[in-house]
Amino acid sequence: MNATSNRLRVGKYELGKTLGEGTFAKVKIAKNVETGENVAIKVLDKDKILKHKMVEQIKREISTMKLVKHPYIVQLLEVMASKTRIYIVLEYVNGGELFDKIVHQTRLKEDEARKYFQQLIDAVDYCHSRNVYHRDLKPENLLVDANGNLKISDFGLSALPQQCRADGLLHTTCGTPNYVAPEVINDKGYHGATADLWSCGVILYVLMAGYLPFDESNLMTLYRKIHKAEFTCPSWFSPGARRLIMKILNPNPKTRITAAQMYKNEWFRKGYTPPKFDEEVRINLDDVDAVFSESTVRTKSFAWHVRCVRMLKHEISFVRAGLRRQ
Ligand code: ADE
Repeated sequence: MNATSNRLRVGKYELGKTLGEGTFAKVKIAKNVETGENVAIKVLDKDKILKHKMVEQIKREISTMKLVKHPYIVQLLEVMASKTRIYIVLEYVNGGELFDKIVHQTRLKEDEARKYFQQLIDAVDYCHSRNVYHRDLKPENLLVDANGNLKISDFGLSALPQQCRADGLLHTTCGTPNYVAPEVINDKGYHGATADLWSCGVILYVLMAGYLPFDESNLMTLYRKIHKAEFTCPSWFSPGARRLIMKILNPNPKTRITAAQMYKNEWFRKGYTPPKFDEEVRINLDDVDAVFSESTVRTKSFAWHVRCVRMLKHEISFVRAGLRRQ
């Protein structure tokens, strides 16, 4: 990092104001000084990650994010590191959080909620087809871009910041369980895909109702209601929306609606157009490996050193063999 101007620089990025802050990370807006483009940079503290033994998990999650390239998912651009920090450079999304719309408008009209829900399912299903599960879909992770399209942030990075995870499960002391599937709370093992769909169902409900389907100040009462899927739909929900939400917020993950079934659902299909995008993903994991090594340069020169020693040994044995023959 350097500070040639009065702004901090990380590589070619000039850091700006903080967009959000969690337990392990800060997200900052930054400018690519070569292109003038904005990015969002997630800044992680290496010490904290080492202390919490999260190195392998974070490497795995960052690698996973590199596999995911979809128009409705925030794109990971690159990963960098200094001695003390890790910088995850992300596509910048400038429309704010989707749920700010609810704060301002109380709730969304059914057609608008459906559009965001279709985009959410498209992105979630794309990730599931690559064995990537979010496990913590919630409003803070849903952003809106300049074209009014949804962008999910932290897909594949769900093990990072905010959530205080050490065992892959959500800890209720660190976050709200309002969006979490009953089988996840149960802690008896769960399938990532069906659990993510439950969270999508809660999100759809909130978009259309303007409030949560399960909301209790007492945690035990909240869990009981989630386990029994004890909720009611407001009068303004259409019969089609009601039927679909009942199929998603089914406490039994084995009989809960799947994404494939969702695409056949009449309410879901209305006005649906699948996104067009280039599916090709080129992956280079060099930066991910370099992130936790002290210095990339040292790693390279060490490899170079090993090669030189090997060549020298080879040369020496060659000379010795020649001498013996003489
Ligand atoms: N907040 C968190 N991630 C963000 C992103 N990629 N763009 C804008 N704001 C964000």
